[in-house]
Amino acid sequence: MEFIHKTVLLNEAVEGLFCSAGKLYVDATAGGGGHSYEIAKRIGEQSSLLAFDVDEDAIKAASEKLKDFTNTKIINASYTQIPEILKQEGIEKITGGILFDLGASFHQLTSAERGFSFTKDAFLDMRFNKEQDLTAFKVINKFSETELANIFYKYGEEKFSRRIAKKIVEKRKEKPVKTTTELADIIKSIVPFQKKGINPATRVFQALRIFVNKELENIETTLQQIIPLLDKGARIVVISFHSLEDRLVKNIFREYSLDCKCPKEQLICSCRPGLLKIITKKPVVASSEELKDNPSARSAKMRIAEKR
Ligand SMILES: C[S@@+](CC[C@H](N)C(=O)[O-])C[C@H]1O[C@@H](n2cnc3c(N)ncnc32)[C@H](O)[C@@H]1O
Repeated sequence: MEFIHKTVLLNEAVEGLFCSAGKLYVDATAGGGGHSYEIAKRIGEQSSLLAFDVDEDAIKAASEKLKDFTNTKIINASYTQIPEILKQEGIEKITGGILFDLGASFHQLTSAERGFSFTKDAFLDMRFNKEQDLTAFKVINKFSETELANIFYKYGEEKFSRRIAKKIVEKRKEKPVKTTTELADIIKSIVPFQKKGINPATRVFQALRIFVNKELENIETTLQQIIPLLDKGARIVVISFHSLEDRLVKNIFREYSLDCKCPKEQLICSCRPGLLKIITKKPVVASSEELKDNPSARSAKMRIAEKR
């Protein structure tokens, strides 16, 4: 199956990285290789790019797209492993910058067999990494009613989370809830269709995807580990598609940019100076031109910081 994904905020992200010669760049989420291709082109032979993804479909697509570049290495691993992989490679610092384009690719969301979409009947899978043990099926059929309700509420901000969880637990007593359509039908029987035409299953499916792939935990721990590995002047660029993700990135950037975190009553400051300088005071969003061509870029928010 052809890998289709329209790269979001392409120029804005690559320019934000300040591509230059003699440096190391990292694309933490290579996907179809859209950002990687532009980075590899701009950095030239004097620099190098390491491009990571956990999804083997993405790795195949990115390898094909980047096959003519000798400055690029594509690595099938989670971005959570970047610190240990850099160590294995004998790399001490990311000298150029790192990009995270979070969430799922269009290919993942629309390939029926990946089980991300409520419009395509398939096994409830939703894993980015097909080697991972936890699937959406396991969550839906093994987790308690309270755990399910909490997942739907926390990651999907679903108002009907408790009622949906109760109904799922009732239904699975008869037989396991196995497919995307079975789950979507349960949700539809609880959540009324809204005026804006958003499918009632949207929020629960999003919540499950975020939970199954540990999306928020992964970005939080990885940003904290990566910031100390950036060389002075190296950039960190994060594109997120979910308000919880964007808030998390904003808070981490802010925390790492503060010079003083001492309580007011402490007279002498004992803090180390902040590690980051925030480059984007407000998140960068897609231009109206990009939105015409790719409406799904509407929720993208990009934040950039620089190591001090
Ligand atoms: C929005 S797509 C990236 C698209 C890419 N920038 C492009 O232009 O083609 C996000 C990608 O991140 C990958 N991903 C998600 N979690 C990951 C993780 N923990 N480690 C590495 N890649 C991950 C997904 O598999 C997906 O391919």
